[in-house]
Amino acid sequence: MSRSFPDGFRWGTATAAHQVEGGNVHNDWWAWEHTPGSGCVEASGDACDQLHRYPADLELLAALGFDSYRFSVEWSRIEPAEGEFSTVALDHYRRVCASCLEHGLDPVVTFHHFTTPTWATTDGGWSDPAIVDRFGRFCETTVGRLGDLVARACTINEPNIVSFMGYMGGVFPPGARDRDRWLRASDHFVAAHRRAVEVLKAGRGDFPVGLTVSMSDYQAVPADDPAAQQRLERVRGHSEDVFLRACRGDDFVGVQAYSRTRVGPDGMLGNEPGRDVLVMGYEYWPEVLAATIRRAWEVTDHVPVLVTENGIGTDDDEQRIRYVRAALGGVLDCLDEGIEVLGYTYWSALDNFEWAFGYAPRFGLVEVDRATQQRLVKPSGRWLGAVARTNQLPD
Ligand code: GCO
Repeated sequence: MSRSFPDGFRWGTATAAHQVEGGNVHNDWWAWEHTPGSGCVEASGDACDQLHRYPADLELLAALGFDSYRFSVEWSRIEPAEGEFSTVALDHYRRVCASCLEHGLDPVVTFHHFTTPTWATTDGGWSDPAIVDRFGRFCETTVGRLGDLVARACTINEPNIVSFMGYMGGVFPPGARDRDRWLRASDHFVAAHRRAVEVLKAGRGDFPVGLTVSMSDYQAVPADDPAAQQRLERVRGHSEDVFLRACRGDDFVGVQAYSRTRVGPDGMLGNEPGRDVLVMGYEYWPEVLAATIRRAWEVTDHVPVLVTENGIGTDDDEQRIRYVRAALGGVLDCLDEGIEVLGYTYWSALDNFEWAFGYAPRFGLVEVDRATQQRLVKPSGRWLGAVARTNQLPD
């Protein structure tokens, strides 16, 4: 028996500017990729040249059966120096939105996806309170130019990852390992989200606005050990709950989920021996999606959930189909339980630049030959496109 999704359920794929556009030379990631010792395996370079190839990419995704496209506007292109806005860049993103609409794709626009202009990071970056006004002004200017063509806005992508990895983990720019800066950056991300909601709501157009949060299926080991439970609550509190609580009252919350995290009484445990481990270093764990949807719904006091990212980096496309099928089964279970799930967005449309990991992890439904920039649809792309078109998960 195939199972149906509700009418109006949205089906999309996602990308982020820096991971697909190419040549984003004015942001902190570009600098980080070129910093010896940063741990980046390669530079983003031309990426997938989506800057020029977006019309064909959008046509392809629409033809596969999707009805929305989540992408990000690159702050460092739009505002390459403080207060200097590029009309050409704004016009470009206006054309991208228009092209989505022409192809029957809802433009789902993310205003910050990991990258920050270098002019805004030379002082404290996200650990400096000035970032809130700066980001607010960028959102205000951008929505003034695009707002009438936007179907949905994500203010910030995974602020929990950017603050932790950049200010505590030392593996994202600026490469800091400083608990105070991490917690300050988290506060500023929350404030920047609230500011962006205000500005986007007040600006041109009328569309739902939300935040996307990176979530994991946190599990205490042993499951019934109070010390492990306590430890888990502490870790998850800083990494997820602060941000989920900041979404209360929003139009939607974006859930982004890939795997699970095992926590023991003394801290993180890593992967369970014998499990299937993916190229990203974490376990194959499609159960994550249902678990995180339930938790986002609970902690936000029932803000509707949009799956803004779920997917798998693998060279085995059959495994991708298995993963997504299982994850979508979990979405259907959540819907059956009465949770409002608005749609599913697969990460990613294309094989692309996976940050410090470079181009090796392949999350795409579409393969990209980076020498010729040719696109080749994978079987999983056709499979998920058919799921989207029929709005049903086949048996
Ligand atoms: C994230 C980002 C994406 C990643 C994806 C796969 O979740 O880290 O939003 O940019 O590429 O998640 O790791």
